[in-house]
Amino acid sequence: MVANVKSAPRVSGDAVKIRIRNLGKSFALGHSTVDAISDINLEVRKGEFVCIVGPSGCGKTTLLRILAELETPSRGEVLIMRDDPAAPLSSMIFQEASIFPWMTIRDNVAYGLKLRHVPPEQIARTVDHFIGLAGLARFADAYPHQLSGGMKQRASVARAFSNDPEILLMDEPFAALDEQNKALLQEELLRIWSETRKTVVFITHSIDEALVLGDRVLVMSRRPGTLRAEFKVEFPRPRRVYDLKADPAFGQMSRRIWTLLREEVSAP
Ligand SMILES: Nc1ncnc2c1ncn2[C@@H]1O[C@H](COP(=O)(O)OP(=O)(O)OP(=O)(O)O)[C@@H](O)[C@H]1O
Ligand SMILES: [Mg+2]
Repeated sequence: MVANVKSAPRVSGDAVKIRIRNLGKSFALGHSTVDAISDINLEVRKGEFVCIVGPSGCGKTTLLRILAELETPSRGEVLIMRDDPAAPLSSMIFQEASIFPWMTIRDNVAYGLKLRHVPPEQIARTVDHFIGLAGLARFADAYPHQLSGGMKQRASVARAFSNDPEILLMDEPFAALDEQNKALLQEELLRIWSETRKTVVFITHSIDEALVLGDRVLVMSRRPGTLRAEFKVEFPRPRRVYDLKADPAFGQMSRRIWTLLREEVSAP
C-alpha cells in the first residue's frame, strides 16, 4: 500500500510535531529494486532542531523528500501535526541554490507568500524582515547571478523562513561553501531559527555541523538506511561556532559519533 504524508491538527500540549512510523522506500532499478530506507521510526518535537548524519547513499535525501511530499513512501507513514491550517506543510532548502534565477532576491523570498495570496503589505513586512536577518538588505533587488554562492544560500534560508511552513527541511544546504562562510551561515541560521523556533530536520555529512546546530543528532546506518543511534546535544545556546569547537566536550562527542559512523561508512 502506498501511503502519503498525512497531516492532522496538533493537539495543544502535545509536544510531537513529526511522527514517522516504520517508514520504508524502495526504488525500481532495472529489473530489481533498491531499498533506500527501511524501518525508520522517529518523533520530532515541535521547535526541535534535528540533524541527521549518515553515509553517502544511505537514503538521507530520500527521507527528506518523503517529508517534503516529493516522494511517496513504499511502507509506513509520516504524520505532521499542523499548528496553522493555512500554512504550507514544509519548505525545503537544497544543497544547490534553490532560488529562481529570473527573479530578484525580494521576489524569490516573497514567492511562497504571493502564491498563498497573503496581503501585499504583510508580504513586504515579512520579506524585509527575513532579508534583513539574512544580511541581504543591500541586495534585495539584485538577481541571484549577482550574488556569491553563500549569499544565494542565505537567500534560500530567507525564502524558506518567510514562507512560514509547519516544518523546515534542509538537505546539506551549506555543503558547497568554504569553511568561514559555512561558520557564518550556521550562526545566521541559528539566529533566524531562534527567533522563529521552527521545527527543523537538517541533513549533513558533517558531524561538527550537526553538533553546532542540532538539539539532537541522529546517525543513520548504511543502505537501506535506518536510524542507528541518537545523541542529545546539550551545548547552551546561543552557540558560536568556533567557541563551541574549542570546547573539549565538543571534540569528545564528535569522536563518539564518528566511531559509530565510521563502521557504517567503511563497511563493505
Ligand atoms: N529516483 C530514484 N530512482 C532510483 N533510485 C533512487 C532514486 N533516488 C534515490 N535512489 C537510490 O536510493 C538510494 C539512496 O539515495 P539518497 O539520495 O537518498 O542517498 P543520500 O543518503 O542522500 O546520499 P548522499 O549522502 O550521497 O547525498 C541510492 O541508492 C540511490 O541510488
Ligand atoms: Mg543526499
